[in-house]
Amino acid sequence: MKTKVGIIGGGPSGLLLSQLLDLKGIDNIVLEKHSREYVLGRIRAGVLEHGFAALMREAQCGERMDAEGEIHDGFYIAEGDKKRRVDLAGHTGGNSVMVYGQTELTRDLYDARSKMGGKVIHNVEDVTLHDLKSDAPHITYRDGDDIIRIDCDYVIGADGFHGVSRKSIPKDVLKEYEKLYPFGWLGVLSRTKPVSPELIYAKSDRGFALCSMRSQVLSRYYIQVPMSDKVEDWSDDAFWAELKARLPKEVAAELETGQSIEKSIAPLRSFVAEPMRYGNLFLAGDAAHIVPPTGARGLNSAASDIYYLYHALLDHYKDGDDTGLENYSEKALARIWKAQRFSWWMTTLLHKFPDNIPYDDRLQQTEMDYLFSSEAALTSLAENYVGLPF
Ligand code: FAD
Ligand code: DHB
Repeated sequence: MKTKVGIIGGGPSGLLLSQLLDLKGIDNIVLEKHSREYVLGRIRAGVLEHGFAALMREAQCGERMDAEGEIHDGFYIAEGDKKRRVDLAGHTGGNSVMVYGQTELTRDLYDARSKMGGKVIHNVEDVTLHDLKSDAPHITYRDGDDIIRIDCDYVIGADGFHGVSRKSIPKDVLKEYEKLYPFGWLGVLSRTKPVSPELIYAKSDRGFALCSMRSQVLSRYYIQVPMSDKVEDWSDDAFWAELKARLPKEVAAELETGQSIEKSIAPLRSFVAEPMRYGNLFLAGDAAHIVPPTGARGLNSAASDIYYLYHALLDHYKDGDDTGLENYSEKALARIWKAQRFSWWMTTLLHKFPDNIPYDDRLQQTEMDYLFSSEAALTSLAENYVGLPF
């Protein structure tokens, strides 16, 4: 097979790029390791920057998001029994975020790809990248006993943190920065009314908790747990009891509990791989960088990579201009590092760190006090949360 752009990974990054390129007549193929059902079964992000929402509309995939997603122009930070609001709109000249689940967004992208006859090949095995430094790279994968070859101009590695693309770059070329946090997030999805119309990020002596949602009848809650905990250790009852204990009393009293539909633990990790280009391979999204979920930056950072890549490929194919491709890694990384900083900051502000010395705890407290005493600090939080410009 032959195509212009070979995309590894059918998560939101790969599908969005595929859709955008196809709309401009740029032929591409997406190779996804798992089935569509498996990809849609993963419950992940819930908060989208308005820049991402705009990109979904440009990809002609914004209809359901605009009908069913919720615009949030603020969120709460709770501390013990106190709850204070961060006015996103007020601190950013009217900006907001969209609450719309990654599952729904990915479903919309799959539907759009199907409608346009997009080439998305599922259940591919042994994906291997070849001749990345040449003008004629190719990809192979196994389909049963057959090895299939795809020749392309460019390979896009959008295959997530555990994918094969980043690992295809020689070790002496790639510099990896990593920070692992000594805790994870236990997440529960439940068919219950969200406890609050806006998200609540809660700092407590027992650890962090987050009250989020997917709709007015579907809630998403998280609590910080030690990395050694297993999902099986947590019954629904134990989860609800611990969540309530970390929320202000007036919020806990309103919490509607129910059976969990999904329960999983995500590790908290910061990771950046540099550069994001090797020959004709370009990395995008979680394949190149991971943030702890606290600031809701992960999927949004993937979207900014796709924005830069889409425009760079458009310039190449429509105008013969390679400046965007040449500058991609540098430009994407500049924004990525700002998202890294913000996610680290918000994680540090709100979690309980087992190895903190009393000095660290006092600084954490001072950071919180400063935040709510300073319009400048609140503006900084708000402008990062709604998303820095692409
Ligand atoms: P992925 O979604 O990981 O997709 C990669 C795809 O590649 C997968 O489908 C995988 O099956 C496929 N693949 C892997 N290896 C191969 C291979 N060898 N060959 C072919 N295909 C392969 N982000 C936010 O912005 N806001 C949030 O509110 C938020 N909340 C989060 C909450 C949690 C609990 C978690 C875990 C993450 C959250 N994130 C959030 C992060 C967000 O989910 C990710 O950043 C996002 O999924 C990245 O998309 P991606 O397409 O780059 O990678
Ligand atoms: C969700 C996840 C986040 O990491 C976050 O900061 C906000 C919301 C969520 O899954 O709803």
